[in-house]
Amino acid sequence: MSVIEIQGLSKKFGDNVVLDDIDLVIHEGDVVAIIGPSGTGKSTLLRSINLLEKPEKGTIKINDQAIDLTTKSAREKLELRKNTEMVFQQFNLFKNRTALENVMEGLMVVKKLKKSEARSIAEKHLQKVGMGDRFSHYPRHLSGGQQQRVAIARALAMDPKLLLMDEPTSALDPELVSEVLVTIKKAAQEGNTILLVTHEMNFVRNVANRIIFLENGKIVADGTPKEIFDNPKNPRLKEFLVKIHMLEGTDYAI
Ligand SMILES: Nc1ncnc2c1ncn2[C@@H]1O[C@H](COP(=O)(O)OP(=O)(O)O)[C@@H](O)[C@H]1O
Ligand SMILES: [Mg+2]
Repeated sequence: MSVIEIQGLSKKFGDNVVLDDIDLVIHEGDVVAIIGPSGTGKSTLLRSINLLEKPEKGTIKINDQAIDLTTKSAREKLELRKNTEMVFQQFNLFKNRTALENVMEGLMVVKKLKKSEARSIAEKHLQKVGMGDRFSHYPRHLSGGQQQRVAIARALAMDPKLLLMDEPTSALDPELVSEVLVTIKKAAQEGNTILLVTHEMNFVRNVANRIIFLENGKIVADGTPKEIFDNPKNPRLKEFLVKIHMLEGTDYAI
């Protein structure tokens, strides 16, 4: 069953064509990793799906409801945002709210839940990411890894159809990366549908069921980890894999 269908997504910044008529179907429970060179439109793709950018063209269908990504309708925007949640590189927690309040916020403001209901859902999700003993902590008293786990709990508490993650471990000190990757892996194993950008290639190989190589605003390759890493056919994908040391090659060996 397809949950999400993106059709004809195009985005320019001035003359710079960043996304060029992208079509992408994501199935329920898919964990799709987007890889590709810097500046190739990975963040813009995620941001356009979550309406943080305004594309020139494109539609997204979630559960048979099609929404124009250029929509001006507040109702449609809210509908789309209710179904997609984003986790950012820089965590983006509310600094003056505790971990628990951060997770409760969307449940009360967007989902209009009563405070007591929001609290119990938020507590459950914080416990799941191993933050059950940090409810009252403010972001400044949490490590980067802990903040990102709160951000993941906040996103999952909204029960989104699609979880978007843009380099969720890139801002972390190296020793904090694995606790966040473990949390994402758990979310994947629980059946959440995830579209993520990451440079953690071992994680991609082991957790994603599908990898998309994005280059110059186009999907150049789309396949399983085996197809992408063990048998890459596209020459530019091969070149990229050599650069990131996922494929042997002479040019960039150190
Ligand atoms: N707000 C913006 N204004 C102008 N250009 C932008 C903006 N955001 C991104 N870009 C440009 O769009 C291209 C793709 O950026 P981005 O999606 O951030 O790439 P990636 O995430 O793959 O590194 C880059 O050339 C970048 O400079
Ligand atoms: Mg980016």
